[in-house]
Amino acid sequence: MDKNKERWKLSLWFLLLLLLIPICVKPVLGEGERWDGVVVTESNFLALQAFKQELVDPKGFLRSWNDSGYGACSGGWVGIKCAQGQVIVIQLPWKGLKGHITDRIGQLQGLRKLSLHDNHIGGSIPSTLGILPNLRGVQLFNNRLTGSIPPSLGSCPLLQSLDLSNNLLDGTIPQTLANSTKLYSLNLSFNSFSGPIPSSLTLSPSLSFLSLQHNNLSGSIPNSWGRTLKNGFFRLQTLILDQNSFSGSIPASLVSLRELTEISLAHNQFSGAIPNEIGSLSRLRTLDFSNNALNASLPASLSNLSSLLVLNVENNHIDDKIPESLGRLHNLSVLSLSRNQFTGPIPSSIGNISTLTRLDLSLNNLSREIPISFDNLQSLKFFNVSYNNLSGPVPSLLAQKFNSTSFVGNIQLCGYSPSTSCPSQAPSTQVEKHHRHRKLSTKDIILIAAGVLLIVLVILCCILFVCLIRKSAASRKANGGATGRAGGSRTEKGVPAVAGEEEAGGGEAGGKLVLFDGAVAFTADDLLCATAEIMGKSTYGTVYKATLEDGSQVAVKRLREKITKSQREFESEVGILGKIRHPNLLALRAYYLGPKGEKLLVFDYLPKGSLAAFLHARGPESETTIDWPTRMKIAQGMGRGLFYLHSHENIIHGNLTSSNVLLDENTNARIADYGLSRLMTSAASSNVIATAGALGYRAPELSKLKKANTKTDVYSLGVILLELLTGKSPAEPMNGVDLPQWVASIVKEEWINEVFDVELMRDASTIGDELLNTLKLALNCVDPSPSARPEVQQVLHQLQEIRPERSPTSGDQGAIPSTSH
Ligand SMILES: *[C@@H]1O[C@H](CO)[C@@H](O)[C@H](O)[C@H]1NC(C)=O
Ligand SMILES: *[C@@H]1O[C@H](CO)[C@@H](O)[C@H](O)[C@H]1NC(C)=O
Ligand SMILES: *[C@@H]1O[C@H](CO)[C@@H](O)[C@H](O)[C@H]1NC(C)=O
Ligand SMILES: *[C@@H]1O[C@H](CO)[C@@H](O)[C@H](O)[C@H]1NC(C)=O
Ligand SMILES: *[C@@H]1O[C@H](CO)[C@@H](O)[C@H](O)[C@H]1NC(C)=O
Ligand SMILES: *[C@@H]1O[C@H](CO)[C@@H](O)[C@H](O)[C@H]1NC(C)=O
Ligand SMILES: *[C@@H]1O[C@H](CO)[C@@H](O)[C@H](O)[C@H]1NC(C)=O
Ligand SMILES: *[C@@H]1O[C@H](CO)[C@@H](O)[C@H](O)[C@H]1NC(C)=O
Ligand SMILES: *[C@@H]1O[C@H](CO)[C@@H](O)[C@H](O)[C@H]1NC(C)=O
Ligand SMILES: *[C@@H]1O[C@H](CO)[C@@H](O)[C@H](O)[C@H]1NC(C)=O
Ligand SMILES: *[C@@H]1O[C@H](CO)[C@@H](O)[C@H](O)[C@H]1NC(C)=O
Ligand SMILES: *[C@@H]1O[C@H](CO)[C@@H](O)[C@H](O)[C@H]1NC(C)=O
Repeated sequence: MDKNKERWKLSLWFLLLLLLIPICVKPVLGEGERWDGVVVTESNFLALQAFKQELVDPKGFLRSWNDSGYGACSGGWVGIKCAQGQVIVIQLPWKGLKGHITDRIGQLQGLRKLSLHDNHIGGSIPSTLGILPNLRGVQLFNNRLTGSIPPSLGSCPLLQSLDLSNNLLDGTIPQTLANSTKLYSLNLSFNSFSGPIPSSLTLSPSLSFLSLQHNNLSGSIPNSWGRTLKNGFFRLQTLILDQNSFSGSIPASLVSLRELTEISLAHNQFSGAIPNEIGSLSRLRTLDFSNNALNASLPASLSNLSSLLVLNVENNHIDDKIPESLGRLHNLSVLSLSRNQFTGPIPSSIGNISTLTRLDLSLNNLSREIPISFDNLQSLKFFNVSYNNLSGPVPSLLAQKFNSTSFVGNIQLCGYSPSTSCPSQAPSTQVEKHHRHRKLSTKDIILIAAGVLLIVLVILCCILFVCLIRKSAASRKANGGATGRAGGSRTEKGVPAVAGEEEAGGGEAGGKLVLFDGAVAFTADDLLCATAEIMGKSTYGTVYKATLEDGSQVAVKRLREKITKSQREFESEVGILGKIRHPNLLALRAYYLGPKGEKLLVFDYLPKGSLAAFLHARGPESETTIDWPTRMKIAQGMGRGLFYLHSHENIIHGNLTSSNVLLDENTNARIADYGLSRLMTSAASSNVIATAGALGYRAPELSKLKKANTKTDVYSLGVILLELLTGKSPAEPMNGVDLPQWVASIVKEEWINEVFDVELMRDASTIGDELLNTLKLALNCVDPSPSARPEVQQVLHQLQEIRPERSPTSGDQGAIPSTSH
């Protein structure tokens, strides 16, 4: 026993050593299980030295870059990640760095990501970045860089994201920037760039975010948006060109950009009309053309923009009347038409837009009355109609809510302040009006009171309903998530993944990432560059804990390539697994197929770890005990998960062990590793069954049968129940017999108390019967004869009878029968 413990410690120590090496998953992908290339290459080492030398590091963050290169790729050097001895990531944001970026960065041929944002780095952008074939992300925003953008950057074929915003850069924007067919985000805002927008940017199908605001760009915007492909799909979602000196008209070709959700051209010198075709941009949420010189009337098609939240055209020369149809913009929150030359009456339909929070019509030439329908605008927080030619009384709600600065400059408008009370041509009618008004308000009050009562009742009903549902069908609730959309969640979440590596399809560098329902948003690149630690290895492959750059954590299982099915079969099977959702089953969130055939599965990461670790890997001096209700909750959770697998998904687990049962933060069981045999060749899955036997969870008939079934799963479940009861690991041999045999032998000799975990015996007086009944059930599950074992449904049923959920045990049960003394 002692020797065993010694060995255990040693391997833990070894594991710990591995854990301390943060690595990019990538190197693990290509090169099997070997940790080659931990030492940085000579040329990379020299380049890093030059990089450090040309930076000024007042806060001493780069002090760890002190050895002769040994630590560079083994996690010793802060901000560096490597693959096969090549630096692939330099990430040093918010480090107070000054100085400049060395030209020798071009020697880092493996570099994928250069992130130095939010420092004080000056000098120019090294043109040698252009010779980096793998460069994908460059984040240099919020620095003091000067000079212009080296046109060579266009030679990086994989460039996805370039953010140089908020520096002191000038010159023109090179045409070549759009050469990368992967470019999805370009942010050059808050610099001093001048000259025109390169037409190449209007032709890039991959570009999703283009932000050029606060520069000195001029000329007209090319009218060539989306012109290259006949029926091509352009991804541009955000186009921000604010605060430049653009002139000319707004190009009609913008309507080819069907994904556009935000367009902002404010503070330029655009003139002419807003193109009528704009009404077909059905996803548009923000349209800001304010502070230009637009002069025609508003196109009627604007009213077709049903997703619009913000419509701002203030400070132009727009005339004619405000279209009545604007009232159809039912989601609009901000409508600003101020400082134009609108004439005619205010359309009463605007009173229909109940979502309006800000309405500015000031400084126009609007006439007649403010529509009485404006009293419906309950959400309004800002309102201004000053300096028009409005007349008549102000609707009462507006008069109460807004002071006179919202109404001034309309000589004939009245009723918005004591000094502008409406002329009392007929005092009697006014009194009558007033009276009616009062009456109405009493009625209103009654109606409101009734409404409030109704709402309270409805809420109470809802709460009651939810409670009932929770109580009776916790499992059914979870099935709702099972209708997962394979790969569909990307665009909906607005993940900038759209043009990422996973879209590359046939591209030689590209792999394929498919996200399932409920996945955190990440790209293939995020995944491959995540910090990874080995959590464990199994027959199917190695499991890593991966920390994405945004700090979220996922568990990544890298499957052994040689034993997985062909790609097509694999994808159809994994698509099925990705749809399984149950609170007691670990959800598969995504998979990744690498260009060389690597296969990664991405699961939720559960920090509490496995049941095996929870039970057996507690520190010896640890005070924590695991009480019976917790163990029973785990047992019932396993039962529910396995029942769902057997009955709803028709899946045999085949490898159920306490290491494959994970625990969430509330110690609920979640079964992992189910269905993986479907992804493997049949030879490989029978191999797994063989190894499961070595761990002590394998049903005896499997030595002949070679094929798992529901009864072999129930056997494994029974072993885990014994594990929960005894606190003993089935992996530890006990005088040459396995755990079921050991328990059976003791029970036979009627020393039952010896069986149970000592931790449980403290409460034996109250839970004795539960322990005993669970023990009987577990022994039933591990019966050598498969036909004598119950199905999992019966196991679950009996567990729930032994300890009904949430009902405390009654304290009147005696001690369990004991003959051992
Ligand atoms: C290098 O820096 C690390 C971290 O700052 C420190 O622990 C180590 O002792 C240093 N090594 C040398 C050789 O100075
Ligand atoms: C960008 O592409 C154009 C034409 O596609 C090519 O002529 C030019 O050399 C490329 N520029 C760079 C820097 O690769
Ligand atoms: C572009 O840069 C500006 C300034 O740094 C920032 O506020 C903005 O969020 C960035 N936009 C995108 C789309 O990255
Ligand atoms: C902006 O560009 C114009 C030429 O287009 C130039 O005359 C002017 O000096 C530039 N302004 C700034 C602030 O760079
Ligand atoms: C709008 O302005 C442009 C340029 O200033 C002018 O040519 C055009 O005639 C104007 N259109 C209208 C309808 O006023
Ligand atoms: C608005 O859309 C409808 C249906 O898509 C179309 O028939 C109508 O012509 C559009 N209106 C305008 C003014 O473009
Ligand atoms: C209006 O807004 C609501 C909630 O923000 C959203 O669910 C709905 O889809 C929007 N309608 C349109 C037409 O965009
Ligand atoms: C909107 O307002 C107009 C005029 O006030 C009214 O006729 C119409 O029924 C309202 N509702 C809708 C949905 O347009
Ligand atoms: C306002 O409109 C009236 C006609 O409705 C017109 O006579 C007047 O000149 C306009 N005033 C301004 C300042 O545009
Ligand atoms: C103001 O509106 C009235 C009609 O309500 C109109 O007769 C008058 O000409 C307008 N005055 C100006 C200065 O536009
Ligand atoms: C009127 O309201 C605005 C904000 O709604 C406030 O800033 C202003 O001080 C108020 N003016 C007076 C005279 O009450
Ligand atoms: C309404 O607009 C006028 C003109 O721009 C301005 O003087 C006034 O302060 C504004 N009122 C509010 C409440 O913003």
